[in-house]
Amino acid sequence: MTTILDGKSIVLGVTGSIAAFKAVDLASKLTQAGASVDVVLTRSAQEFVGVATFTGLTHRPVSTGLYESNSELGIDHVALARRADLILIAPATANVMAKLAHGITDDVLTATILAGSQPLAIAPAMDADMYGAAATQANVATLKERGVHFIGPESGRLASGLVGNGRMTEVPDIIGHIRALLGRDGDMSGRRVVVSAGGTEEAIDPVRVLTNRSTGKMGYAIAEAARDRGAKVTLISAPSSLPRPACVTLLPVSTAIEMRDAVQTASADADLLVMAAAVSDYRPANPAGQKIKKTGEDPLSIDLIQNPDILAGVSGKHLIKVAFAAETNDLIENADAKVLSKGVDMVVANDVSAADSGFGTDTNAVTFVYPGREPEPMPLMDKLDVGNALLDRALPLLK
Ligand SMILES: Cc1cc2nc3c(=O)[nH]c(=O)nc-3n(C[C@H](O)[C@H](O)[C@H](O)COP(=O)(O)O)c2cc1C
Repeated sequence: MTTILDGKSIVLGVTGSIAAFKAVDLASKLTQAGASVDVVLTRSAQEFVGVATFTGLTHRPVSTGLYESNSELGIDHVALARRADLILIAPATANVMAKLAHGITDDVLTATILAGSQPLAIAPAMDADMYGAAATQANVATLKERGVHFIGPESGRLASGLVGNGRMTEVPDIIGHIRALLGRDGDMSGRRVVVSAGGTEEAIDPVRVLTNRSTGKMGYAIAEAARDRGAKVTLISAPSSLPRPACVTLLPVSTAIEMRDAVQTASADADLLVMAAAVSDYRPANPAGQKIKKTGEDPLSIDLIQNPDILAGVSGKHLIKVAFAAETNDLIENADAKVLSKGVDMVVANDVSAADSGFGTDTNAVTFVYPGREPEPMPLMDKLDVGNALLDRALPLLK
């Protein structure tokens, strides 16, 4: 899987918060994603985490003091400021935010930020009262006004044992924000993209549902791919256990009718609609008001009625529509029929019976099917890469 982090240079500032241990995982995950991570530790941060851990994980020197230079230029903060695509402070103390708000540069981290002009993202972590203090709030407001991107903090259990607002945003979510920030001027910048995902649920009775094996992985990956290219993304998701993607508007729905309503509203001013959800074709005609008891009736039958065709009811002035066709047989024939019957601009056909492809897997082998053109089979790819391949093909169609 290739994300926008691949090949990027990121300065990761770590300050003296109890949450500094989470920065170890963050440095590791950013490095694994192909980013070149230069860690800068404040003196206080070194009370919590060590240089050797970060050097070992990032395979790069760690900067700790203005007068202990590692750089080829001899001045760490200038070299780092020139190289970085983005600076991230995680965790950020009340102290570092106060220093930044007032232009104080008494360590490598604050000097690097003042010397640089790249985007700065800050993930605060502190006690709730410290975060709520008038001085901290004034510093946050000053930094936001200057265009600094704040990631969190979140409400939750704090290291003190108290519950409140000050918990550092979890690492996967920080990475989502960073990807969105790095991609904000991408080739889909300014575009509105609606993606549906997951398998709808139709009530049989209050405890049972009619559903399918879709996990939402494909739709969520498309939403993330579009976000990483600068699009404004609305993800309409049937029930899914996947984490909410950062910087994406998530609209949870349950039934096909709820999904239709949400898709119609969201698509009104959208450029691109990708229907990756597995929508139930039928729903129980008369869901029972109470749990259906085991009786002697065998077989027990449930009457089903057809759900509305979501794509047929969606129209937008400039809307490009992409449908998914999950098939177990006659893949291309069925996808071709869908292109014609649904009036879509492209169908992504996938054989859900193939190994490593379809429901629940991290990879997918799809064929892009277009009206009046030869189908384009793709190799087995990670779902994020499938999402990007889809967007590559949809982009030239956008008005
Ligand atoms: C155990 C311990 C935990 C701390 N946790 C935090 C914290 O989560 N957030 C914070 O703003 N300060 C915290 N502090 C206070 C900072 O370490 C202190 O303000 C320090 O001067 C910050 O320096 P720095 O911003 O240069 O890293 C903590 C201090 C101790 C001793």
